[in-house]
Amino acid sequence: MEIVPLGPGFAAELRGVTLADVANDDAAYNAVRAAFEEHSVLVFRGQEVSGEGQLAFSERFGPAEVTKVGSLGTGTHFVILTTIGPDGKVVPEDHRFAMRNKANQLWHTDSSFKSAPALTSVLAARTIPALGGETEFASTRLAFERLDPATQKKLENSFAWHHYGHSRGKIADGLATTEELAALPPVCWRMVWRNPVNGRGALYIASHAYAVEGMEPKAGEKLIEELTEAATAPGTTYEHKWKNGDVVMWDNRATMHRGRPWPGNEPRYMVRTTISARAVDGVETMRPSPRLAAE
Ligand SMILES: [Fe+2]
Repeated sequence: MEIVPLGPGFAAELRGVTLADVANDDAAYNAVRAAFEEHSVLVFRGQEVSGEGQLAFSERFGPAEVTKVGSLGTGTHFVILTTIGPDGKVVPEDHRFAMRNKANQLWHTDSSFKSAPALTSVLAARTIPALGGETEFASTRLAFERLDPATQKKLENSFAWHHYGHSRGKIADGLATTEELAALPPVCWRMVWRNPVNGRGALYIASHAYAVEGMEPKAGEKLIEELTEAATAPGTTYEHKWKNGDVVMWDNRATMHRGRPWPGNEPRYMVRTTISARAVDGVETMRPSPRLAAE
């Protein structure tokens, strides 16, 4: 396996290894897992992926999420991100699918709004537009390491509230349905996720985070915005330009990402699997004290 660095201090392409190798072979999994802990974003090119193959690969890393209500693929282990409607045509720009892509274009961390946050997301390209539709990544680990020690310490002992309705509300009222909101009450996480393998901390924030525990609402929101802006500053990101056969996986504990726009008349169809974080991935260190969580 060859590791080819891609981004400014994070993200790498893995060559000489396939998704099937990882699914079937312990040594291949261990090598890819070590690269995942180190590089945060991994790119596999030229893969032949079926849904089952993607799931078998993903489940090596932990338990697969069941897709929430309100998303395409609900009740399965797959999230379908598409602008192709049931009639096979590209949906208009005010369609819910298209609006959701707009929400996806905010800097975020997958599933931070869930009671079981995500370790990793695995995204496979099935149909890609000729231009645009990139996925851009920022390292919240490097962003954390750029902060001064006093701020690092303060954030490590701070907790932020995350809510699905907050990120959707930035795009349009009612984009998150009553059913979704009922299934997804706000959750609270430590603002720094320390990787248990290498000990490096990373900011755990983004578009679903709306408040900081113990801070005035406006001040907390401002802090989250400022940290996001610094974490995603020009020159610090890796933008993945999709090709057919690409599969990209990322560490939701140490990155944020956003989708980039593409011409609204061009179809795009992507399949995501998402793996929940477990104690071995550090999730227990992210929980607030029981008193806070109960509020
Ligand atoms: Fe995402």
